[in-house]
Amino acid sequence: MLTNFDLEKMVDTSNEWILERTGISERRIADPDIATSDMAVEAAKATLAQRGIGPEALDAILVCTVTPDMFFPSTACLVQDRLGAKGVWGFDLIAACSGFVYGLTTAAHLVAAGTHDRVLVIGADTMSRIVDYTDRATCVLFGDGAGAMLVEPAENGEEGFIDFLNEIDGSGGEFLKMPAGGSRMPPSFETVEKRLHYVHQDGQQVFKFAVRRMYEVCRDLLARNNLTANDVAALIPHQANRRIIVATAERLGLDCDRVILNIDRYGNTTAATIPLATRDAIEAGKLKKGDLVLFAAVGAGYTVGASLWRWSY
Ligand code: UT7
Repeated sequence: MLTNFDLEKMVDTSNEWILERTGISERRIADPDIATSDMAVEAAKATLAQRGIGPEALDAILVCTVTPDMFFPSTACLVQDRLGAKGVWGFDLIAACSGFVYGLTTAAHLVAAGTHDRVLVIGADTMSRIVDYTDRATCVLFGDGAGAMLVEPAENGEEGFIDFLNEIDGSGGEFLKMPAGGSRMPPSFETVEKRLHYVHQDGQQVFKFAVRRMYEVCRDLLARNNLTANDVAALIPHQANRRIIVATAERLGLDCDRVILNIDRYGNTTAATIPLATRDAIEAGKLKKGDLVLFAAVGAGYTVGASLWRWSY
């Protein structure tokens, strides 16, 4: 665990600043020998155990991540092998903080096509490996984590996936990125020296975009389904900044007890925030069978996404 007080000793920051500007108190940091696939496997096993099925029952595995163990093989392949999930296919999905929302929507369409019965969607990120712990503007924000969900055909027509609204806007790519390590800027002594293998963010630019689009995408998705905020039992948003989430809820007119917030304990775990927050919502009794749930995220890219589901267990 890495607390705000720990960070006070590492960079020029304060518990008060971090809490007030982000809502974060502490984050989980993976041990040095743990990589993204290790956390993804644990999340997958827990989800399969909860559903009472084995890995052979899966048809596909999607791993949403920006911190794969390595470029290739994909983390999905590593997870498949470790699970012993014979005969499945899968891939990694890179959509930064919107990764899990995009993964869920992709899985819903694979299942709706009638070609897949069980798609495991995993959100896993080891952000501590790409965060610069000398940069106070970013190092206070991120944590490590993983979570998973299983998407299956609904047993009756009333539960399951309802609709989605996703959008990418590459004009915002400059504002949140890891500049080096890819084909544009392969690793060199210079890229390492200039600390280009870390997250670089223009926080204010991303904040302005996120606070506007998170609200708009939720509003538009509800409106085109003839729903209002009052119909939503739980808004489960990506956890990047408490202020973005609270502003979204206020503009939607959603009671704060229907908004799932756990950023205080985990920070921004990128693709893992939504499955982790969903688990917390279920444990707190805020998400039950038959409830309408709205997932929403904005992240690097820019990527924007929201999806509406009627919860089925
Ligand atoms: O999940 C992916 C998408 N990411 C996001 O949605 C993140 C969006 N951005 C944010 O959440 C916020 O912009 C931040 C939390 C990153 C920053 O909050 P802010 O209110 O936008 O602060 P700022 O960047 O405008 O900085 C305000 C001041 C600056 O000092 P001056 O220029 O006013 O003297 C910063 O240098 O706060 C300073 N500052 C800090 N001070 C103490 C920046 N980081 C820190 C820090 N501790 N850790």
